[in-house]
Amino acid sequence: MRSWGLFGLALLGCGSDAGGRAATRPQSANARRLVIASVGLLACQQNGQSALHHAGPAAGRIGDLWWIMLAAASAVFLLVLWVLFRAFTHRGFRAEPRTPSDDRTATRWVLAGGVALPAVVLTPLFVFSLHTLSELTPPAGDDALDVVITGKQWWWDIEYTVQSPQDHLRAANEIHIPVGRPVRIQLRSSDVIHSFWVPALHGKMDLVPGQVNTTWIQADSAGVYRGECAEYCGLQHTRMQFRVVALPAPEFASWLKEHRRPAVPPADSAAAAGQTVFLTSGCAFCHTVRGTAARGTTGPDLTHLASRRTLAAGTLPNTRGHLAGWVGNPQAIKPGNKMPHIPLRPEELQSLLAYLGSLR
Ligand code: CUA
Repeated sequence: MRSWGLFGLALLGCGSDAGGRAATRPQSANARRLVIASVGLLACQQNGQSALHHAGPAAGRIGDLWWIMLAAASAVFLLVLWVLFRAFTHRGFRAEPRTPSDDRTATRWVLAGGVALPAVVLTPLFVFSLHTLSELTPPAGDDALDVVITGKQWWWDIEYTVQSPQDHLRAANEIHIPVGRPVRIQLRSSDVIHSFWVPALHGKMDLVPGQVNTTWIQADSAGVYRGECAEYCGLQHTRMQFRVVALPAPEFASWLKEHRRPAVPPADSAAAAGQTVFLTSGCAFCHTVRGTAARGTTGPDLTHLASRRTLAAGTLPNTRGHLAGWVGNPQAIKPGNKMPHIPLRPEELQSLLAYLGSLR
């Protein structure tokens, strides 16, 4: 039963759309997708994106509710199978004349199965759901860390609450949080509806243009938890991923201090030439590098780009080679995204890569 439950969640919960479109496909394709979904489930467990391997209190409550609902649904399913079996083997099924006693029995079955059973099963589930819901409200206390996340086609803009201008910290696609402390998140969208979901930490919450929705996450242990957009938002919806990096409190404090600093000035001539390319060839119109004249806000803040794990919202690992491919032809890697192709000479690209690689 547990394995079926896990499989069900693989379809629902791991960002795979295997369940949704399988119905229209031939059987061999369905079987293939079934295998892919199962493998996907294993991958989900490995990459920290499984609601069943919860790592925070909110996901824990949701997980409890999920198992209880699965147990209740399974019990009802087995009961229905048993009743069906009895019905097929009952003498009444074999075209014998019905008696008034049969009619009374039938009425009792309809009342028991159609009224009493749903009431007995659904009422406790409803009450438990309300109880779970009440435990999922965002924390109100001052202890919580406040973060503002804006969904954009197709990446995540992350701002840590500003006490003063020098505390300003903007990041993209990677949310660092302290372990054991609630993080209150204001969710906004600047274009279409997205949905914020870190399965191991909490349920989904939509980001709706013109509206602020509040959710919260908390990680019980240090680690990297994968999250992604859970609402279809256009061509590159599946490549709108992010990471939540939970750090022990002292490490988080030093991360915050380190990342609030402006970018380090170029340390060598290649990086210096790359900075010039960055500032003069169009990058700076869309991107900010704090401490320089680059103050664009259309694209992600790149002040500490080199410290991130991925590029293009989880699309590529953050290596020099992948960065070269991304800058060289972003539309080939993530078609439809808003980063234009800027033609650069090979030596310009190399110095730009040296500069971007120095933004730690
Ligand atoms: Cu943003 Cu799907």
